[in-house]
Amino acid sequence: MQRQALTWRLEKRRVVIVPTMGFLHAGHAALIKRARRIAGKNGRVVVSIFVNPTQFAPNEDLERYPRSENADFQLCRSLGVDAVFLPPAQDIYPKECEAPFSTFVTEESLSTSMEGRSRPIHFRGVATIVVILFNLTQASHAVFGEKDFQQAAIIIKMAKDLKFPTRIIVAPTVREADGLAKSSRNAYLSLAQRENATILWRCIEATRTSVNEAETGVSAKRMRQKLERLIDKTPEANLDYIEFFNPKTLAPVSKIQHSDRIALAIRFGKTRLIDNGLI
Ligand code: PAJ
Repeated sequence: MQRQALTWRLEKRRVVIVPTMGFLHAGHAALIKRARRIAGKNGRVVVSIFVNPTQFAPNEDLERYPRSENADFQLCRSLGVDAVFLPPAQDIYPKECEAPFSTFVTEESLSTSMEGRSRPIHFRGVATIVVILFNLTQASHAVFGEKDFQQAAIIIKMAKDLKFPTRIIVAPTVREADGLAKSSRNAYLSLAQRENATILWRCIEATRTSVNEAETGVSAKRMRQKLERLIDKTPEANLDYIEFFNPKTLAPVSKIQHSDRIALAIRFGKTRLIDNGLI
């Protein structure tokens, strides 16, 4: 991959990477289309498919994470992707050898709240694999989804702090008709859970409505209580967190304004869904 990418860069081509864990859906497709536009005719679009073990805790869904390589290849081909990069885990993180993998990248500020608090090793794994993918693909540009807002913010910060020449582009969240954000993990949901999963979107909408109706912002504490009641009424839904935050710093706000964001994580049985939106 790296040899090919270096050749492309010597030929003065853009290399645009879309990092994914596969089981591609319309959300990924939107990122790939954006990447194709950025790359233009001369540039190269690389989609990586790698279910990255270091971003999963031992109790999480690494083993059962859904896979559909053939469908993924077909989608990539239909969207004009130049290369799908699908490395074996042993190549990325050598284990049984003289020099097992031992270097990690940690962002230490934006990673501490929300997803970082619920999944302590998660962003270390994400930052590490993204750096490896940037190096392997010599990426001039990389496209990420707003669906994982905190992840995108951390990658932007990491690229800045570590002086990566890679430009980070963040594309909007693609949703189902009823508002549920497209996600590979939606495949885990039962029919009933799928219907109830719209609660994430309804919480975002309810917050927007409340802030629209208020004149000077809405108390985060009050809003959280209101949403907790909505979630309590939703069968099988277990709240992990709701946060109202400043999109630049990710710091929680006590009074919610239009320029702030909401992010939340809700469990349905073993399935954990996240979403976020601008207020
Ligand atoms: P994955 O969950 O496969 O997502 C790959 C990319 O697609 C991420 O940038 C994510 O934000 C984006 N994405 C997912 N659902 C989306 C939606 N409904 N609309 C728009 N974009 C969406 O995120 C990861 O993989 C991994 O953490 C990764 C960055 C690949 C590192 O392992």
